[in-house]
Amino acid sequence: MELSKPRGTRDFLFEEMKQRKQVESTLKKVFETYAYQEIKTPLFEDLSLFTMKSGEEIVDQLYNFKDKSERELTLRPEITAPVARLFMNEMQKSPKPIKMYYYGSCFRYERPQKGRYRQFWQFGCEMIGGKTPEADAEVIAMASHSLEELGLDGYEIHVGHLGILRGLLKEAKVKGKDQDQIMALIDKGDEFGLQNYLNKVEIDEKTTGILLMIIEMKGGVEILDEVRQQISDKKLVLEALDEFSALLKTLGDFGIDKIGDKENNNVVINLGIARGLDYYSGMVFEVYVPRLGAQKQICGGGTYNLIETFGGEKIESTGFAFGFDRLINALIYEEKIKDISGATDVFVAPISDATRPKSFEIAQKLRNSGISTEVDLARRKFKKILSFANHLKARYVILVGERDLLEGKVTVKDMDTGNQESIPVDDILDHVLKAI
Ligand code: HAM
Repeated sequence: MELSKPRGTRDFLFEEMKQRKQVESTLKKVFETYAYQEIKTPLFEDLSLFTMKSGEEIVDQLYNFKDKSERELTLRPEITAPVARLFMNEMQKSPKPIKMYYYGSCFRYERPQKGRYRQFWQFGCEMIGGKTPEADAEVIAMASHSLEELGLDGYEIHVGHLGILRGLLKEAKVKGKDQDQIMALIDKGDEFGLQNYLNKVEIDEKTTGILLMIIEMKGGVEILDEVRQQISDKKLVLEALDEFSALLKTLGDFGIDKIGDKENNNVVINLGIARGLDYYSGMVFEVYVPRLGAQKQICGGGTYNLIETFGGEKIESTGFAFGFDRLINALIYEEKIKDISGATDVFVAPISDATRPKSFEIAQKLRNSGISTEVDLARRKFKKILSFANHLKARYVILVGERDLLEGKVTVKDMDTGNQESIPVDDILDHVLKAI
């Protein structure tokens, strides 16, 4: 029988788990300094939670199934819709904004390649009910702060506003479904498909021209003035531009200024950001690490109005999710994950069978004080014990010999330097605590 993993899934071994934990713990710390609190939602949900807004087309990308009672379920492809559901179920009366963060795996039925998996992890946040430029600005600032704290260098945060593109299409009387389709083609970067679709929906030539120009616009705040000049008669677009300008101004107060200045900053305005998911309504942003190639997008987010779609009040919310696996790939590439040492501080090595009981006693004493300790459980010969301790990267080995014990002592060997010291059994704990 061949024992293989399902396509697009991975096993994580010790070293990799330590690296992932280190990044997880840094992100948790940053998110908590912005007063977000952690939540967990189920790994599977009703299928309708994801098809309600995005339509049946999304099913192609889902791991959906029927359970034994014929319920239509799916493994979650993302965590924003589950959080909106949780809000509807549990938190409608809570004062807003509500700041939540999550870390967990998501599942998408995709063609696997480096950086694209069928099971992957997201580390993300949702701020429910924060419809102000400062709420949006703080969310972007937290994403930027997280990447700075992790020490990542080669990243760019591209910020856009869907109200500009959608406003333009709405003013041109393009229907909602067609708008979604156009946004999806922009998101994919499918120029040919976009041209064809624009011809099909019969938008006037001027609007098509402006749209194609806008989606190419990247840079500093000056590009907003260029758009303003082009669309001075389009009220919805002007509203979105004003909202976007207010957000960018506030970003400065949160420490992100000189937008578009590549030498001094990682934030760029990019009006071509359309986002693949259908629920966004205002500010949107994506973070890229260009050297990751096709899977360079390590983070995506924006403002959305899912709660209204789910039958609740109109509560604008903002959030984002890091693609945790891609983030790890980027950090490993830049060698930004600190050296990971072994998990074992001390190895207790009985030199003969007679000293096993005392060895277990010593191991328990150290463990009770929170010191990571391994003791020989395999009844190895002494030489083999040392090579096993080496393999575990133990920092100290405590040699427990009969003759030493008669004098109430053991020998502590520093595995880095090779130095050995004879220590009274009663002093071991103090000695080890000082050493590690
Ligand atoms: P998303 O852009 O679809 O947004 O996913 C967020 C991130 O997850 C992406 O930027 C990417 O790094 C990573 N990702 C997506 N698919 C895969 C995959 N197959 N393998 C590895 N990584 C992947 C969302 O999911 C939104 N819910 C984010 C959000 C939160 N918006 C508002 N709040």
